[in-house]
Amino acid sequence: MSAETTTEPRRWGPTDPMLRNVCLCKKVTRGELIEAISRQQLFSLEQVREQTGANTGCGACLDGVQALIDQLRDELRAGESD
Ligand code: FES
Repeated sequence: MSAETTTEPRRWGPTDPMLRNVCLCKKVTRGELIEAISRQQLFSLEQVREQTGANTGCGACLDGVQALIDQLRDELRAGESD
């Protein structure tokens, strides 16, 4: 019997980043957040909390949720000025 070795890192959870939970408490994925923020033009943390439930549990996902809001707001506003 030979022991197999691999250099591949062990992966946990979905490999598609859109399917990964940004908010573990409420199980809100990156894809769900992007869709909600973009479609409904949610540019405040309060709006995103209300519409998606993200960041309404332990609060640990605050930086990730806020970074996504900031990034999409900037991208959507840049798109408007073109
Ligand atoms: S991980 Fe989002 S509120 Fe806990």
